[in-house]
Amino acid sequence: MYVNLLSDTVTMPTEAMKSVMMNAELGDDVFEQDPSVNALQEYGAGLFGMEGGLFCPSGTMTNQVAIQLHTGRTDAVICEEGSHIYQYETGGYAYNAGVAITPIRGTNGKITADQIDRHTHPQNDWYPRSSLVVIENTCNKGGGSYYTLSEIEPIASYCREHNLALHLDGARIFNALAATREDPLAWGRHFDTISICLSKGLGAPVGSLLLGSKKHMQEARRLRKVMGGGMRQAGILAAGGLYALQHHRDRLVEDHVHAAKLADVLSGLPGVRAIRPVATNIVIVEVDDPANEVVQRLAKKGIAAAAMANDLVRFVTHLDVTSEMIDYCCDVLPAVFNRA
Ligand SMILES: Cc1ncc(COP(=O)(O)O)c(C=O)c1O
Repeated sequence: MYVNLLSDTVTMPTEAMKSVMMNAELGDDVFEQDPSVNALQEYGAGLFGMEGGLFCPSGTMTNQVAIQLHTGRTDAVICEEGSHIYQYETGGYAYNAGVAITPIRGTNGKITADQIDRHTHPQNDWYPRSSLVVIENTCNKGGGSYYTLSEIEPIASYCREHNLALHLDGARIFNALAATREDPLAWGRHFDTISICLSKGLGAPVGSLLLGSKKHMQEARRLRKVMGGGMRQAGILAAGGLYALQHHRDRLVEDHVHAAKLADVLSGLPGVRAIRPVATNIVIVEVDDPANEVVQRLAKKGIAAAAMANDLVRFVTHLDVTSEMIDYCCDVLPAVFNRA
């Protein structure tokens, strides 16, 4: 058996999704004439009560566009130190926006209003100007941990009071919402912009949506264009994204059950030093042996996982992982860690 737990980005479109994509009505989206792209943007914006949406090729692009929307050169972005925008976007904040990062060491990837307050620079000529806070939900490096609305409210109030823009890197926001059962509309009220990924747990092949005000979306279109992200008959992709938003949100809880099962088995094994608290579909394990070696041993048993750091191995459950696959993993994991 082969079980791909490398990431939730590895999913293949389902037959139903492919059929919707193949029959999608298309047009030239650079002229805003693609009905399928327009439908996806409206649907996504409607979910969060935002005025508009912008379909982009990737979550990296929606985040990079958002950073440029809310900052000027020599500004600073406040975020948790493990954030995707800081660690995994090739330094795009500096390259694209000309800004610095003020990283905060959070708890399992999460930060508080109090910490943001301590990291907001005083305004003078020598500090970069703090102008944007980015919250990641769920937190990838935090092991899929999530914020609740009650944790976001004080952050949003702080940002409003201190004239800081607030962007949500919601690449996996639907995993968080599946866990908390909170209403996306309530989340939309707190953020200036939200980025959601269609090609992670939701299972679409490509794409991410940036959501925000009409004014922000107009400017975001220009920024997407200058980054080379203006796509033509993109509706073929957007149709898959809309299908995913409409059909694959509720099932995310299954992925969470699968991740919890894996964590249960892993927690008692020799060579497993610790497991980050498992809240959604990500299991991050601290291992005694070099993570690359553990990943190779897993591969020999047909399990793909990622070495996140020298001593961290990450497993991610998703749409294409069945309960039979999880049972198989639970059976063979003890042997992998016993090096049998
Ligand atoms: C939290 C988070 N934000 C943004 C992204 C970027 O998405 P993409 O791979 O579509 O650029 C990822 C990708 O893994 C992510 O985990």
